[in-house]
Amino acid sequence: MKLHEFPRHPLTFGPSPVHRLDRLTAHLGGAEVWAKREDVNSGLAYGGNKIRKLEYIVPDVLASGADTLVSIGGVQSNHTRQVAAVAAHLGLKVRLVQEKWVPWDDPVNDKVGNILLSRMMGADVRLDTAGFDIAIRPSWQDALREVEQSGGTPYAIPAGASEHRLGGLGFANWAFEVAEQEERLGVHFDTIVVCTVTGSTHAGMVAGFAALEDLTGVRRRVLGIDASATLAQTTDQVGRIARHTAELIELGRDLRDDEITVLGGWAGDLYGIPVDSTMEAMRLGAELEAMITDPVYEGKSLAGLIDLVSGGEILSTSTVLYAHLGGQPAINAYHSLWPGQ
Ligand SMILES: Cc1ncc(COP(=O)(O)O)c(C=O)c1O
Repeated sequence: MKLHEFPRHPLTFGPSPVHRLDRLTAHLGGAEVWAKREDVNSGLAYGGNKIRKLEYIVPDVLASGADTLVSIGGVQSNHTRQVAAVAAHLGLKVRLVQEKWVPWDDPVNDKVGNILLSRMMGADVRLDTAGFDIAIRPSWQDALREVEQSGGTPYAIPAGASEHRLGGLGFANWAFEVAEQEERLGVHFDTIVVCTVTGSTHAGMVAGFAALEDLTGVRRRVLGIDASATLAQTTDQVGRIARHTAELIELGRDLRDDEITVLGGWAGDLYGIPVDSTMEAMRLGAELEAMITDPVYEGKSLAGLIDLVSGGEILSTSTVLYAHLGGQPAINAYHSLWPGQ
């Protein structure tokens, strides 16, 4: 297993915090619930899950001699904000395509939150009217060409850094970090719950926990909660990236189908639009734990966890780890969900 041989450029504060959610656990009356907090993992512009992926991509960026990172996401993309943060940190330029992935017509949607932070960090932000799709996008390929035509040397980072050769490594390594923290804390997480959209966070975990299982003989479940509302496409992408990452780290066996689980039921009909279960999960996280989640990603995966624990699909004897992947800057664009008096 070769994971530890890949170069990693540190961008995090170190292991992200792991803590018990006592009041949520008591409220649900089932499994013991803990969280691992990627929302507070880095000093770079509020951090988040993409920082982990970029730790393994930056050495390739630096070796390539590129001077401009080129990436893509929705208007309120957390990913593009983290790419802008890493570019600022490295002293590189950054060109971002921000597509209209969400039909959310708040007048400040393209002005506050993530996009504001990217602009503050000096990113060249271009809005595009195309709708949601996690696949490779022509607008992003155009941006790469334009950077080249204007004399720059682009480095291509696709949506969510997922369709990047090294995109799964960050969360494969996360699995080993969890194992170390378990030992220190004297706890064992038999179930991990994680939000999945472009797929490489979940896929990396699948590959990493598979490697850990082969070393320790301990099996656990990694449950991806779909927030894309394009379940088949995300499931396919998770499987593909998990298998690619497993091969890259030389796992030495095929992944079993039961190691790749993407659950639908909490995304609603559209990416980026909260439904009742999202609102209830965001409310519970905030009121019981002061743990802030967003309506696009983490509110949906927390809703999944809440239903799986309270419905007993995650057994009451389980200890479950909720991977909090960040995303809070976007809540500024969703202020109307809490209108006040
Ligand atoms: C806060 C947050 N949670 C979850 C995800 C989903 O991660 P992935 O795209 O790797 O599936 C993202 C990014 O897409 C995100 O920004």
